[in-house]
Amino acid sequence: TDLAHIRNFSIVAHIDHGKSTLADRLIQETGTVQDRDMKEQLLDSMDIERERGITIKANTVRIDYTADNGEHYVLNLIDTPGHVDFAYEVSRSMRAVEGSLLVVDSTQGVEAQTLANVYQAIDADHEIVPVLNKIDLPASDCDRVAEQIEDVIGIDATDAIRVSAKTGEGIHETLEAIVHKLPAPKGERDAPLKAMLVDSWYDAYLGVIVLVRIMDGVLKKGMRVKFMSNGTLHHVDRVGVFRPEMQMVDQLGPGEIGFLTASIKQVRDTRVGDTITNDRNGCEEPLPGFKPAQPVVFCGLFPVDSAEFEDLRDAIEKLALNDASFSYEMETSAALGFGFRCGFLGLLHLEVIRDRIEREYDIELITTAPSVIYHVYMKDGEMIELHNPADMPDMSKVDHLEEPRIKATILVPDEYLGDVLKLCQDRRGIQLDLTYAGSRAMVVYDLPLNEVVFDFYDRLKSVTKGYASFDYQMTGYRQDNLVKMSILVNDEPVDALSVMVHRDRAETRGRAMCEKLKELIPRHMFKIPIQAAIGGKVIARETLSALRKDVTAKCYGGDATRKRKLLEKQKAGKKKMRQFGKVDIPQEAFISALKMD
Ligand code: GTP
Repeated sequence: TDLAHIRNFSIVAHIDHGKSTLADRLIQETGTVQDRDMKEQLLDSMDIERERGITIKANTVRIDYTADNGEHYVLNLIDTPGHVDFAYEVSRSMRAVEGSLLVVDSTQGVEAQTLANVYQAIDADHEIVPVLNKIDLPASDCDRVAEQIEDVIGIDATDAIRVSAKTGEGIHETLEAIVHKLPAPKGERDAPLKAMLVDSWYDAYLGVIVLVRIMDGVLKKGMRVKFMSNGTLHHVDRVGVFRPEMQMVDQLGPGEIGFLTASIKQVRDTRVGDTITNDRNGCEEPLPGFKPAQPVVFCGLFPVDSAEFEDLRDAIEKLALNDASFSYEMETSAALGFGFRCGFLGLLHLEVIRDRIEREYDIELITTAPSVIYHVYMKDGEMIELHNPADMPDMSKVDHLEEPRIKATILVPDEYLGDVLKLCQDRRGIQLDLTYAGSRAMVVYDLPLNEVVFDFYDRLKSVTKGYASFDYQMTGYRQDNLVKMSILVNDEPVDALSVMVHRDRAETRGRAMCEKLKELIPRHMFKIPIQAAIGGKVIARETLSALRKDVTAKCYGGDATRKRKLLEKQKAGKKKMRQFGKVDIPQEAFISALKMD
């Protein structure tokens, strides 16, 4: 296809504003797939994604469209991940296209995530076409939302297209706008191959499938290519496009988006943002902005049943094959035995992986407290990256610690602003900005990442009844008064419960954790002290009183069925517990104890 007849675009939207529904409509309208083949939400392919209603893997589809002017166009839609954890992937997919549809739910308005993604689109010099969706709903208020787009984002929304992805109204106008408002791609056919690796995933039959955008040159079946970040060479055995099912083609030229396969075994060997070129006489400079995936949140994953360790290893290895941004190494814990220390892009990523291990591999897990990477500066001048509070060196040898900070943007209706400010303040936030757009406030905070990774988002949702939206980016490291707090159960330290905390918050956190644990740990035949300590010094303490044998006997003595049921329940509950010294601690305690209400 010649460049003038190609349009490449992405759809920017907040969760639930209708990105997938709109994409499906565009595909359907152009007859790319037959109606009967339409699955609900064609572009979200994984089950978990669908269940959680979020898009994780970038996907793409090539659409043929004959415009009103009679010309034939090829439209390539790249679907971008819709969650803050995947900001880097979003930025790469944005670089692979020239324009974006900005989809805003006309009953809701602009949300924090819309903002974050639209800024990425602006950074990538996109032409942006605003689309107001859900106009079929009575609550739709296009004028208000258009005005808001102008106020908050600062782009012209007078010509915003009014659409119902549900009824199909405005879909034709959207296709025409893609053709007439978005620019055609540029590129040199005669130059050496220069392609961006936009995404990759594992396919059981074809091996790793690599999604590429050709910038210059031509990608052909049979040629040898080089991945510039690591210098590896590959023989291209297939080249194709998604319609959305795979269709093989002989070649892809400048401006085109498609895929290649090259007998690559692991997704790990393909890095998002990498440049692919000819093995000889390739392009001189790689595309700018490449960054290897950097996990930012770490936690330990241990099997509840230690006999399942090998199964867990197997599950983790398989998942890692398909996820370059997920890292793992073996970890041994005095209390939990053998497991893995895993690194994730963010909390959502952590939850997705943990759910998949539990569901697809049927392994019950103990997840230890998520932690960020601290920089520990030793007195001898060395700097250690601390991924696990359990590895914290002796404080007497430590000079100071630094923790990662983020810039958080929160959009919230006026009436909840006070609660949001309090929450941010409680999490050691520093307010950077507070502005209004209509009846909504936009607050920008500098926050420690550690205070956010755990339950910040849940808390934010609950104090604002779900009306706030949130987005963040990492900004850098800053020194603070941080200490390691250990938890002792029955006088034994439980390393999986150690956390890094700010010194000023240690007592409050310690007390809260001890109280929570007291509720979560079942009573035993003996008294159990639960303590929080910094170094050797106990800063909080609770005591779980002993269970008296005769009480059970008296209570349940009479009713045999009830007693049996209780015993069965106990047995089922037991399976999800781990023994620490003489004490059984239930699985959920590891996460629940850390939640700050
Ligand atoms: P993520 O994939 O989670 O980012 O969400 P999304 O932005 O892709 O939203 P999705 O397309 O899944 O739509 C969210 C909900 O809104 C679904 O229940 C859709 O059926 C509904 N929806 C989408 N477009 C319209 C519309 O034009 N009118 C109405 N009434 N509902 C719509």
